[in-house]
Amino acid sequence: MKKLIIANLKMNFSKDEMIEYVDEIRNKISNTLDLVICPSSVYIYMFEKAGYNIGSQNAYYLGKGPFTGEISPIQLKSLGVSHVIIGHSERRNNFDETDILIGKKLAACLKENIKPILCIGETLNQKQCRKTAEVLKNQLLVAFKDIPKDEMYDVIVAYEPVWAIGSGKIPEVKDIQDAAIFIKDVIRKKYDIEIKVLYGGSVDKSNIEKINNIMELDGLLIGSSSLNASYFVEMLDLID
Ligand code: PGA
Repeated sequence: MKKLIIANLKMNFSKDEMIEYVDEIRNKISNTLDLVICPSSVYIYMFEKAGYNIGSQNAYYLGKGPFTGEISPIQLKSLGVSHVIIGHSERRNNFDETDILIGKKLAACLKENIKPILCIGETLNQKQCRKTAEVLKNQLLVAFKDIPKDEMYDVIVAYEPVWAIGSGKIPEVKDIQDAAIFIKDVIRKKYDIEIKVLYGGSVDKSNIEKINNIMELDGLLIGSSSLNASYFVEMLDLID
């Protein structure tokens, strides 16, 4: 099965820089990978025109109305968006997103047939207190509380330890593997289905091969290392 690669460009690039980026990666990424690019919403049209799979970095949970500054899954769908990152730790921490709000966003995306990528992960303190499993289970069960089984098939979970994001540090391979097995088990026990699990947090050229070799993972969520077009292309060549 093709590995799913999510590039989270976060709040980066001016318009001209983005045009250059699209140009630089065009036709250079192997089609043995399933690549989804998540630019700032203002640049989604550029990726739509260039024929990429597009993801959004966020979505609101209502369809339309007086919610200044928000973007709905219906609007995203009309722009050709197929995936939405939900509950990234930067949104949990900087915008006070709770597991309950995240659950509503998941439900709203699924209703529009958009695949949500739910980000979960422990902080350094939680890791040191050996609470990783408890934290992951809680984040999963609260977020999926109101999602019916027949909608769960489209769900993707990204295991992103908060302390690994943008830090240059990654967990031991065994810890990533254990987390992926654990997440799949929690979902299997509750819903009796198999979901895709990705890893995200400081993936770069030096570690992508060993992380990609973890059998239990279905793909990667890449932040900083996707920002430089030539670096990104070279890095993905390593797992082609
Ligand atoms: P990073 O970001 O690759 O820069 O650590 C990953 C993410 O935030 O999803």
